[in-house]
Amino acid sequence: MLVIEDLHVKVGDREVLKGLNLEIKSGETFILFGPNGSGKTSLLMTLMGFSGYKVVKGKIIFKGKDITNLPVYERARMGIGMSFQRPPTIHGLKTRDLVQMCAKYAQNKEIDVLNLAKKVNFLDFLDRDINSGFSGGEIKRSELLQLMAQQPDLLLFDEPESGVDLENMALIGKIVKNLLRGNGESPRPDVPMKELKKIRQVSGLIITHTGYILDYVNADRGQVLMNGQLCCEGRPRDILEHISKFGYKECVRCLNK
Ligand SMILES: Nc1ncnc2c1ncn2[C@@H]1O[C@H](COP(=O)(O)OP(=O)(O)OP(=O)(O)O)[C@@H](O)[C@H]1O
Ligand SMILES: [Mg+2]
Repeated sequence: MLVIEDLHVKVGDREVLKGLNLEIKSGETFILFGPNGSGKTSLLMTLMGFSGYKVVKGKIIFKGKDITNLPVYERARMGIGMSFQRPPTIHGLKTRDLVQMCAKYAQNKEIDVLNLAKKVNFLDFLDRDINSGFSGGEIKRSELLQLMAQQPDLLLFDEPESGVDLENMALIGKIVKNLLRGNGESPRPDVPMKELKKIRQVSGLIITHTGYILDYVNADRGQVLMNGQLCCEGRPRDILEHISKFGYKECVRCLNK
């Protein structure tokens, strides 16, 4: 699904990623850890193709195609979707209209926005401008609603649980799990659900500090981003336990091995 080769990325004057290699297979979920400021968000923004994140070396291959220089909208059309850590407020754009736009390139263009919004308790927000005055938890649910409409094949989640209360965590966990399973909330009407699951192999890249999301998703493996490179590959729960016991300094030792 995704191959990242020797990726070097500059943000402003600073080289944030320094030779990062990563492969995520179809149907696989990868968990990314790393201290504040280590470049996790920068990696996701680069994968999505945002300006300001300059690839100075290396390449990004998605579904076998080199997308390193493609604009954001083409990557989105190819099937990459992202839930942002801090998405912008967009005045003049109603949530309902953005959700409808997200569905434009989904497998089933005729989505029922009301039905989707109901699943994330978001009916009351559809007529508000996108993220305008939304609380932290509401922003996360709005992000999920957009992804439910878009149905991407590669899902990038930047701290999906941050700012979310425990009750909503269960809801968010369930939705993330369904998205990663390819459980189309808007399945193609001509293909039975059972068949659709076989056709759609969805992959995920999730950034987490707390690991709450691990209670809900079937995460295959993870790594830590330190000093612009990935290290300490392992099972996400083991990595989290290690970090909470020994801190990130152990990862530096791992990098120097
Ligand atoms: N426009 C910019 N100009 C200069 N430096 C920037 C810019 N954007 C990001 N950075 C820096 O790049 C580094 C990586 O930031 P990034 O947001 O990717 O970290 P992160 O790993 O996601 O951290 P966190 O866990 O706090 O979300 C930080 O030191 C940040 O200050
Ligand atoms: Mg971040």
